[in-house]
Amino acid sequence: MQSFLLKAAAAAALFPTAWAQNLTTNGTTNGTLFTTLLAAGRPTPKLDFRDTAPLVPATYDGQAYGCKCYPGDSCWPTLNKWNALNNSVSGNLIRYIPAAAACHNSFTGPLGTVSNTYDAAACADAQANWLDEDWTVSKPAEYIWSYATNSTCTPADDPNNTRGCTLGYVGVYVVMAKKEAHISNAIDFARKNNIRLIVRNTGHDFLGRSTGYGALILNTHSFQSIEFTNRYTGPGSYRGGAVTIGAGVQGRTILTAAHNQSPPLSVVTGECPTVGVAGGFIQGGGHGPWTTLKGFSVDNVLAFRVMTASGEITEVNESQNADLFWALKGGGPATFAVILSLTMKTFPDLPSVGATLYTNFTNAFDYPTWFKSPSIFHKYANDFVDSGMYIYYEMVPMLFTVRPFVAINQTVAQFNATMAPFLAEMNLEGVPYEYMVKSYPTFYDLYMDLFEAEAAHTNALTGGWAFSHDDFETNTPGIMGGLQTAMDNGGFMIGHLFNSGLHVPSGDNALHPGWRNITDFVISAFLVSDDATIAEKDALNSVVKNVADPAFRAASTSGVTYVNEADPLQDNWQSHFWGSNYPRLLTTRAKWDPKGIFYAVSTPGTEAWEIKDYGTRLCKKL
Ligand SMILES: Cc1cc2nc3c(=O)[nH]c(=O)nc-3n(C[C@H](O)[C@H](O)[C@H](O)COP(=O)(O)OP(=O)(O)OC[C@H]3O[C@@H](n4cnc5c(N)ncnc54)[C@H](O)[C@@H]3O)c2cc1C
Ligand SMILES: *[C@@H]1O[C@H](CO)[C@@H](O)[C@H](O)[C@H]1NC(C)=O
Ligand SMILES: *[C@@H]1O[C@H](CO)[C@@H](O)[C@H](O)[C@H]1NC(C)=O
Ligand SMILES: *[C@@H]1O[C@H](CO)[C@@H](O)[C@H](O)[C@H]1NC(C)=O
Ligand SMILES: *[C@@H]1O[C@H](CO)[C@@H](O)[C@H](O)[C@H]1NC(C)=O
Ligand SMILES: *[C@@H]1O[C@H](CO)[C@@H](O)[C@H](O)[C@H]1NC(C)=O
Ligand SMILES: *[C@@H]1O[C@H](CO)[C@@H](O)[C@H](O)[C@H]1NC(C)=O
Ligand SMILES: *[C@@H]1O[C@H](CO)[C@@H](O)[C@H](O)[C@H]1NC(C)=O
Ligand SMILES: *[C@@H]1O[C@H](CO)[C@@H](O)[C@H](O)[C@H]1NC(C)=O
Ligand SMILES: *[C@@H]1O[C@H](CO)[C@@H](O)[C@H](O)[C@H]1NC(C)=O
Ligand SMILES: *[C@@H]1O[C@H](CO)[C@@H](O)[C@H](O)[C@H]1NC(C)=O
Ligand SMILES: *[C@@H]1O[C@H](CO)[C@@H](O)[C@H](O)[C@H]1NC(C)=O
Repeated sequence: MQSFLLKAAAAAALFPTAWAQNLTTNGTTNGTLFTTLLAAGRPTPKLDFRDTAPLVPATYDGQAYGCKCYPGDSCWPTLNKWNALNNSVSGNLIRYIPAAAACHNSFTGPLGTVSNTYDAAACADAQANWLDEDWTVSKPAEYIWSYATNSTCTPADDPNNTRGCTLGYVGVYVVMAKKEAHISNAIDFARKNNIRLIVRNTGHDFLGRSTGYGALILNTHSFQSIEFTNRYTGPGSYRGGAVTIGAGVQGRTILTAAHNQSPPLSVVTGECPTVGVAGGFIQGGGHGPWTTLKGFSVDNVLAFRVMTASGEITEVNESQNADLFWALKGGGPATFAVILSLTMKTFPDLPSVGATLYTNFTNAFDYPTWFKSPSIFHKYANDFVDSGMYIYYEMVPMLFTVRPFVAINQTVAQFNATMAPFLAEMNLEGVPYEYMVKSYPTFYDLYMDLFEAEAAHTNALTGGWAFSHDDFETNTPGIMGGLQTAMDNGGFMIGHLFNSGLHVPSGDNALHPGWRNITDFVISAFLVSDDATIAEKDALNSVVKNVADPAFRAASTSGVTYVNEADPLQDNWQSHFWGSNYPRLLTTRAKWDPKGIFYAVSTPGTEAWEIKDYGTRLCKKL
């Protein structure tokens, strides 16, 4: 009993007053959180957080905070301590210097200045590969979506440039973990020294959740194991094929490995070839080209192997640690544990039909004519997904690219039949477009042919909203108006049409239940200049939060958006990301990470935490 009371007290320390008032240290209150905590507590690994170092006291605007420890604070570990960490991770600790420092004479970060960083060959390499996703992922802490790093070190042409190279909001040290013990040692070091810990897999995160000022970054990308089985024998009734993948495996890698099985197999990954599968993607839910037929990626997960915030390896499946199993499936990244590996269902790959459609400035003569193309497309959105399709599109004024339409397990005749009314209306309205249909022996062949890589080091903000089947039935013109407003304000639209509820029963996982009714999930991206001032960034953040996202919501009753692809600063993120599942996620967080060893913006239980001092210090309101 005593240990649960301690955990309850620890949870009270982590969570805001509204929740904490139902917790007491003497156990006389039996509020929701406390009783759920007890019920969820058997069986459990030993979660002992007594060695957690205290937060650093601080005051902002008269309010008391406790902060993580940063360079310059007296609590900052001595060089001897960092060396000891380095020994405990087999020499895989790096004092991080950004890749583009090679294009500058010197580099300055919170640990000081490093001179003579210029290196012509390394600089040429950075310049040549700056937009390449694979190159960016392979670096210890480079970022695909670089807004969150503050974009303060870019590959300049002149090493004597006045802008210089600073660390921005990137961690000061990186552990390039190669063994599970490296992960537990990094977590233990962060916990015992009150250091902000960031888990980084591929650095794809739109919301900046795998980078942070003054942090220790734990890079899990080296965990690349892939192991197939024809017959899963773990807990539960499923006895079909499965694959166990290490934390660092990316989408294209697992799709290729599955394709090379005999007969060819597939799994649910994202559309992007370089997004990881077992990191942020799975903890957000994971949608992709198979989603209309097989659900979200989390609907296919059978088991996890994780490292807890107390540094213990824990097996997680439906019969053991079921609360964590449920929460890891969509409950938010970097919140409950570090995933070491996961096991997910495989299924036979299938013949597929792919198509592309473009209406753009080279073939549309005026804006109103151009706008008819996405408008007519969206009129048929429900029909597309009801027929079993997944569709990816991009849109800015005068550029509408639908690449690709994906119809897995369909014949060209079936696909054409669904497309016929849409194309007939395009023709009737005199809307120009370029269109191509192609059939493929497997989905994998389609995937390699029609899905494109994206540009790395994109400095942009993200918003987005999920439009439901009902929204399209009742208000397609309103949805188009919302997209129009976002574009008018500089937004680039990235749309995903899928239906995760038609062929798939609701899984027992943390995903917002509303996802089962969604037809189109739209991301809006707003480019930011590397030289933008804080005031300019604040103004753009306000456009996303107060203009573009509200225009989406005004056209929708779904109440849903995606924790991995949305504005982290929006109000009511708890309900928009998780709906009725949020309270259960809070209790699970309170049990597995009561001290906040992990942190990612707008994830369960982080209400009291804020980034202070212009995007630098992570502090908890006391
Ligand atoms: C170009 C592009 C295309 C995308 N396409 C899709 C798509 O089709 N479908 C979709 O669902 N999403 C898509 N996403 C969003 C994607 O799901 C998120 O960016 C996701 O966070 C990426 O996870 P990652 O592990 O690869 O990246 P990272 O940036 O390395 O990590 C993201 C988050 O996960 C945490 N994390 C990473 N590894 C672990 C681990 N082992 N244990 C615990 N926490 C960990 C990090 O701390 C961070 O909070 C796309 C993103 C981009 C940039
Ligand atoms: C302990 O329990 C008593 C009631 O028995 C209650 O009044 C008091 O507030 C509790 N203490 C704390 C710290 O919650
Ligand atoms: C739970 O609360 C009820 C009413 O608030 C009280 O009567 C009961 O004694 C409590 N039970 C425990 C185990 O504290
Ligand atoms: C606190 O407990 C009361 C009584 O059990 C309950 O009505 C309320 O919803 C709880 N508050 C929270 C935030 O759980
Ligand atoms: C960690 O140890 C390795 C091997 O001795 C060394 O190359 C590296 O520079 C060390 N890292 C730090 C931050 O000192
Ligand atoms: C940079 O400046 C130094 C002296 O300040 C000079 O020696 C060097 O040639 C300059 N490099 C370039 C590429 O201009
Ligand atoms: C982040 O960028 C802003 C400009 O937008 C700059 O004023 C600030 O100093 C930068 N902070 C860090 C830590 O890089
Ligand atoms: C399920 O969890 C139990 C208990 O931790 C573990 O022994 C078992 O190996 C796990 N099974 C799978 C398939 O992960
Ligand atoms: C515009 O459409 C034409 C076909 O009409 C296509 O060839 C071209 O690549 C498209 N341009 C862009 C930028 O998408
Ligand atoms: C593929 O189509 C066949 C025939 O219509 C159907 O029996 C099967 O369930 C489909 N497979 C999937 C994964 O949808
Ligand atoms: C399907 O549609 C495409 C494009 O309109 C056409 O070229 C093809 O002949 C059609 N195929 C079938 C089997 O209907
Ligand atoms: C899905 O939409 C239907 C029809 O509007 C509604 O009755 C149902 O409650 C919705 N389900 C979820 C999980 O939102």
